[in-house]
Amino acid sequence: LCACLVTIVAVRLSWRGWTRQLQRMLKGGEETDEFRPLLRDVRELVDDIMTEREADGEGGAWNPDRLRRTLGRNLHGEKIVIVSNREPYIHEYDPDGTIQVRHPASGLVTALEPVMRACSGVWIAHGSGAADRAVVDAHDRVMVPPDEKIYAIRRVWLTEEEEKGYYYGFSNEGLWPLCHVAHTRPVFRTPDWNHYREVNQKFADAVCDEAGVEDPIVLIQDYHLALAPRMIRQKLPRATVIGFWHIPWPSAERFGICPWRVELLDGMLGASMLGFHTQAHCNNFMDSVDRYLESRIDRESHAVIQQGRSTLIRPYPISLEWPVRWLDGLPPAPECRRSVLEELGLPQGTLLGVGVDRLDYTKGIEERLLAVERLLELQPDLVGRFVFVQLAAPSRTAIDRYRDLNESVAAIAKRVNIRFGAGSYVPIILKRAHHEPPVVFRYYRAADVCYVSSLDDGMNLVAKEFVAARDDERGVLVLSQFTGAARELTEALVVNPYDLDEAAGALAAALSMPEDEQKARLRSMRAFVAEFNIYRWAGRMLRDAGRLRRRDRLSGRLSDRFRAAFRGAEA
Ligand code: F6P
Repeated sequence: LCACLVTIVAVRLSWRGWTRQLQRMLKGGEETDEFRPLLRDVRELVDDIMTEREADGEGGAWNPDRLRRTLGRNLHGEKIVIVSNREPYIHEYDPDGTIQVRHPASGLVTALEPVMRACSGVWIAHGSGAADRAVVDAHDRVMVPPDEKIYAIRRVWLTEEEEKGYYYGFSNEGLWPLCHVAHTRPVFRTPDWNHYREVNQKFADAVCDEAGVEDPIVLIQDYHLALAPRMIRQKLPRATVIGFWHIPWPSAERFGICPWRVELLDGMLGASMLGFHTQAHCNNFMDSVDRYLESRIDRESHAVIQQGRSTLIRPYPISLEWPVRWLDGLPPAPECRRSVLEELGLPQGTLLGVGVDRLDYTKGIEERLLAVERLLELQPDLVGRFVFVQLAAPSRTAIDRYRDLNESVAAIAKRVNIRFGAGSYVPIILKRAHHEPPVVFRYYRAADVCYVSSLDDGMNLVAKEFVAARDDERGVLVLSQFTGAARELTEALVVNPYDLDEAAGALAAALSMPEDEQKARLRSMRAFVAEFNIYRWAGRMLRDAGRLRRRDRLSGRLSDRFRAAFRGAEA
């Protein structure tokens, strides 16, 4: 523990000098205080670790074993039910008819799958793959991971109409743009809302079906399922329901745009605990409740109280498993670099930039490519030497806005390539396809710079994946200030993605950063992600849930006794 803290503090101190230099360079001489104060970061870190130690009675690294022990100690090994729209394994048919398993591009799945491997239980999700029905048993269950069979996926089937209204419509044309400041108007339609309600009920029914006990621990994930906590509580009043919102929560004014704001808030408050990535999102949520619902807000204990029942509202910044299993068996970084350059048909000395995203307008992919253009404009010596490769997984393509984005990204890449390309030199390589994690990690390892340019993002696990991939301590992360990750990965070059000069300056700085500086930054970020990994995230939530559960059981017992005594007195 001490060694880890010393590493984080020491490297954070050593890169500060360089940060000032960079800021001076980017801002034309003046210093800004955009980068977060060092001391506050470290103090929070120490506080967090110490509190946890006291609560847990054990120190050391967080790993699957420690998570299992925490689960046993705090929740007496009760079964966990995870619920999300997206499933962790999707079964698809290959053109020859054989069944393949795909790992979806989803931060939610990346984070929660290792938790489920550690704890086992059931994961309830929409069965969206063409071959999903072919592999389930009579209870719509299939054991996964395919070769290990540790936990079950229980698939919920949706009709085409339901998927259109609930997933594409209300969730992704309504709530998604409502919650992200990315300048796309939310669209709210009554039929979509009706489907959203019905589908939430379907998921809630599946939970009750799978629970097996009166007081299961249910982890509800994300904005697709805001109504499910209340629906579950109605049937299982003693359940411990933990909701986690993976995307930003907007300001109360903005949230007020939604015609069903009251119903959504009320649905969420059926949970015992609600988690967000940052304190700012928690505050926005509490402000929204304050403005639109009859309830009492206890800002000191971070809780919303409705009719005597309280819901805790807490920040739990999400993370990755550590070490990431996709790195097992992957060649060392120099070899990945050699093979990636070869496969792209690039000379071995090429400077390589990498972007990895779903093709989503919140990810700032257009701004990213424009920053590459600006870089080539400002630094002509990089023309012919620098190539940016964008891995872009097609996403939500039934929605017009996503199709428009697809075209616009392709058009920008084409324009920049015509402007700066020559002979075999193509500055932007756009790979619009789903890439399985081992491929993505090979690209992270091959890169000189990874640019995450989200316009608004709850956390962004691509940034943490890049850090995890670089066990060679080489490469630079350029990171949007509008991601939750920027609050934690303070050794990244943090930029405003709308400011193309600043972003281009950071890319230039990254490409010329001395090796020892790259090392120092990566070492510190790696120590941070290793320490604050997904097992700690889940452990903290489950420990807090355990406390709630003990408190509820105690108050349940007390009120039972009180009722019995009262009845006795009446008789
Ligand atoms: O984290 C936000 C999120 O919408 C997840 O809920 C989801 O799994 C992921 O992004 C990818 O999106 P989708 O599931 O719509 O493909």
